[in-house]
Amino acid sequence: MTKILMVCLGNICRSPLAEGLLKSKLPQTHFRVDSAGTSGYHAGSSPDFRSVEVAKQHGLDISSQKSRQFSGYDFEIFDQIFVMDKSNYNAVIRLAKNEKEHHKVALILDYPGAEIEEVPDPYYGGDRGFEYVYDLLNKACDFHSNQLMKQ
Ligand code: 4NP
Repeated sequence: MTKILMVCLGNICRSPLAEGLLKSKLPQTHFRVDSAGTSGYHAGSSPDFRSVEVAKQHGLDISSQKSRQFSGYDFEIFDQIFVMDKSNYNAVIRLAKNEKEHHKVALILDYPGAEIEEVPDPYYGGDRGFEYVYDLLNKACDFHSNQLMKQ
């Protein structure tokens, strides 16, 4: 079983979408996908309604997810950790205990042909921001699911 973790700041907007998208592109028999936030601000909360809505429009149900905070212990459970932006990257790397853990972490948009480097935080923007985030994550998860299936 390969285990992948999606990480953002609040675990209510971007990483729940990334979790739902990657899960939908990989066989559940061989892959486990989860998500977490570097902050504990929203621990126990459901995803933001705008993320739930944009996922639903694309046939994905992410409504039963619950926010939780990332911890150093996640390095022992997960094989690969995808972060949404450089601030998430720094917060996660700070908890890595060795080189092996450090190497598990990557920016989700770090793949050939990606339009930008970071997934913008849509929390304070309008609904259009969530469509854009969905589109960025959909393309990234297409790439990463193909890579993971080849391993
Ligand atoms: P996320 O978005 O990191 O994509 O879940 C955010 C959600 C909440 C906050 C910031 C970002 N907040 O500051 O409450």
